Amino acid sequence: MRAQLTHSDDITTLLCDSLVIPFFKDLTLNADSRSINKATGKQLSRLLASDDFSGQLGQTTLLLLPNGIKAQRILLWGLGDKDKLSRQSWSRAADSLAATLNQQKIKHAAILGSLKLPSAVASAWSFQQLVSRINRSSYRYSTTKASVKAKQSTLAKISIVNAKNTTANKRAIKAGIAIGKGINTARELGNLPGNICTPKYLSSEARKLGRQHAGIKTTVLGEKQMKLLEMGSLLSVGHGSVEESQFIIMNYQGGKKSQQPHVLVGKGITFDSGGISLKPGAKMDEMKFDMCGAASVIGTMSAIAEMKLPINVVAVIAAAENMPSSRATKPGDVVTSMSGKTIEVLNTDAEGRLVLCDALTYVERFKPVSVVDIATLTGACIMALGHHATGLLSNNQDLAENLLKAGQDSADRAWQLPLWDEYQKQMESPFADLGNIGAGGAGTITAACFLSQFATKYPWAHLDIAGTAWNQGGGKGASGRPVAMLCQYLMNRSEQ
Ligand code: BES
Ligand code: MN
Ligand code: ZN
Repeated sequence: MRAQLTHSDDITTLLCDSLVIPFFKDLTLNADSRSINKATGKQLSRLLASDDFSGQLGQTTLLLLPNGIKAQRILLWGLGDKDKLSRQSWSRAADSLAATLNQQKIKHAAILGSLKLPSAVASAWSFQQLVSRINRSSYRYSTTKASVKAKQSTLAKISIVNAKNTTANKRAIKAGIAIGKGINTARELGNLPGNICTPKYLSSEARKLGRQHAGIKTTVLGEKQMKLLEMGSLLSVGHGSVEESQFIIMNYQGGKKSQQPHVLVGKGITFDSGGISLKPGAKMDEMKFDMCGAASVIGTMSAIAEMKLPINVVAVIAAAENMPSSRATKPGDVVTSMSGKTIEVLNTDAEGRLVLCDALTYVERFKPVSVVDIATLTGACIMALGHHATGLLSNNQDLAENLLKAGQDSADRAWQLPLWDEYQKQMESPFADLGNIGAGGAGTITAACFLSQFATKYPWAHLDIAGTAWNQGGGKGASGRPVAMLCQYLMNRSEQ
């Protein structure tokens, strides 16, 4: 999809499939909508006077083949109460507009950008979010559908008309496209089945990104090289699988060479059967989504490279398949992590932390400004927060607050849980330096406690996306979260 900022002195001559006019509940016209009203012989004000459109948040009402103007359709788009408009509600309104544009098979939508928005959402941000949400909505999964191909979206072009022609606005529209595309990249990787999206598939996608962007260099370590690095914990997870584990490093240099990088770490379990601690059968298929952390890291790298963010970012992915077999790690086995700490594997289904801990040790070498890991780590996170908020735990409150803010800014929100010392004792083991599961509740927190013991050398935050990485029910599929949050976080950091 393409998007652009355009100017039109006479909006009645603008060619497009649908001219989208935003309205608050007060339904007042501005100069642009007044000229449309005039050209259409007051069709617009008559429609506004009817009960068909009240300007409610997300409401869309169609006026087909309007008189006197070149646009094929006018679409009235409700933004609700002016004083109540927030970043969250703007994003909801954008989703609803995107759904209507898709339903009506619009190819080119021109959205009037001259409406003055309240300061909470005004400025370039609103265009960034609008474009990224619309771009996101154009994704359809079809890769493994042979006969019933999903209908592809018709949306090809978005014009934002008569917004201020500023560098910030232009940049925001580019960012919106890049972020939307990054989100869809993450969704596609998440949706691919485990027999296609293997650890090697993830590394080939990461290599592809390295070829596509001059700013990204990709390096992949196989099991042999991981052995040399003594990543005994990571390796123990893939032991039962015929698929070789992969350790993927993507290095994006957008800032000065001397600038310390931000690090992203993605959990890339391409299928989590639970291993010898086998999961129950119901919904086990959903464990193909257990690499959504890795997918979000790849999507984010693609977006920031496209935006050419002036910042250095290293992304690493710990990829493995967790399967039972006679070679698989057994409950009670003790493994030695790269840090030297020994771990008693009490439950082979708590494998995410086992791959992440070695990645957290590995990234020490980059002397990072911040490290954020992203993982579908615990079912307990769904108990705690459901499907709306990503779980956030951190050893550094500034970093936590930066991420929370980025989540608010992008309407891809997280909620912080405590990482208090008191919980740490739940991870003790009689046979190793620590166990891989914590007794006594708070599963999301104890998982983060485990990770925190390996993230000792830098500000670190952990995002548990177990509840947010994919949607269930009718629209089942990967959500692409938290690509928007991560992009916003890195954009905010690059401005500092
Ligand atoms: N990938 C799962 C977590 C998960 C479960 C995410 C369901 C989304 C939906 C993770 O590897 C896991 O199995 N965690 C265990 C940990 C437990 C054994 C301590 C869990 O949450 O049950
Ligand atoms: Mn598991
Ligand atoms: Zn898992």
